[in-house]
Amino acid sequence: MPPAHPILLTGIAGFIGGHLASALLARGYNVVGIDNFDPFYPRARKQLNLAHAQSISGTPSHGNLTFTEMDLTDQQAAADLFARHTFDGVIHLAAKANPRLSVADPVGYTHANVTATAVVLNEARKQFHAGACRRVVCASSSSVYGNCTTPPFHEDLNVDYPISPYAASKRACEIIAWTHFNLHKHPVAMLRFFTVYGPRQRPDLGVSTFIDKISRDQPITLFGDGTMARDCTYIDDAVAGIIAAYQRIDAHGYRVWNLGHSTPITVNEMIATVSTTLGKAPILIPGQAQPGDVQLTYADLTRARAELGYNPTTPFAQGVAKQVAWYRSLH
Ligand SMILES: NC(=O)c1ccc[n+]([C@@H]2O[C@H](COP(=O)([O-])OP(=O)(O)OC[C@H]3O[C@@H](n4cnc5c(N)ncnc54)[C@H](O)[C@@H]3O)[C@@H](O)[C@H]2O)c1
Repeated sequence: MPPAHPILLTGIAGFIGGHLASALLARGYNVVGIDNFDPFYPRARKQLNLAHAQSISGTPSHGNLTFTEMDLTDQQAAADLFARHTFDGVIHLAAKANPRLSVADPVGYTHANVTATAVVLNEARKQFHAGACRRVVCASSSSVYGNCTTPPFHEDLNVDYPISPYAASKRACEIIAWTHFNLHKHPVAMLRFFTVYGPRQRPDLGVSTFIDKISRDQPITLFGDGTMARDCTYIDDAVAGIIAAYQRIDAHGYRVWNLGHSTPITVNEMIATVSTTLGKAPILIPGQAQPGDVQLTYADLTRARAELGYNPTTPFAQGVAKQVAWYRSLH
């Protein structure tokens, strides 16, 4: 039975946020979504991310969606939002989300990611003390593992050596969230996502880029030798993990969970799978490995499977086929 009060979903116009909003509405949750349409990728893409959720809002057996455009680093705007609504809890996905680009903009990434998380937690705990807003779920990232040398990466590994400002901002959020829980006993889950892909994927990410470039006969710059590997997670699997974390965090207090697939795919394999799915050969040009890029991401899912019942089921080739079908529907 969905709760009476809505869930606050930040970053709702993003890739994961748009999918999660639709899944929550379909389960009968009411959702208040906010986003500032950060110009990191086009607003039109973000409106497309929101459109499906908006189209099912209020339909039979679905919850209602209310959307507000706002910037979470604006403390007064956040206070006003929490004054207007009583929330069941918060799922905080809003962030600037690209490790490579963060190298040139550490201040912007720290502001959008760390300050906004502190603002959300601060407003959420005020409602918690007043008997509402029972929990917060926040997006962290596999990038916090940096170049750890003991894969697969378990949540208890030392993650004090991130190699990009983005990863450092996500690690900072985890520490701030732990302090928040320790002070206020307000449950907080930190979810380490591993390269989420599928229809509407962010245009800066590998699979998106490869589909677009191969389709348009454009060259792909291969940064490094193509052996860099990512543990790619299909969007529906990630969404199921987020909802499970929302439903189960109260029993844990503060908890970090990996949401990956536990099957790293090299960049060379990604390009080959996309190429086979499209039935077209890639044009590759060599490039330098980029600062901020880790060599490997690889999730140990022991904890998420045991505590969340998390069970990612989508094989990479199947997920890519769905993303290609979506891409073709637009072009
Ligand atoms: N997609 C992945 O593979 C992946 C991997 C690891 C972690 N994550 C994390 O998951 C979350 C969602 O990722 P995504 O791929 O959907 O990214 P996204 O960029 O598509 O979505 C993030 C959304 O947050 C919004 N936003 C940014 N700053 C904001 C602010 N100050 N106020 C309000 N809204 C703001 C953006 O406009 C955007 O729509 C992010 O926190 C990201 O760091 C994603």
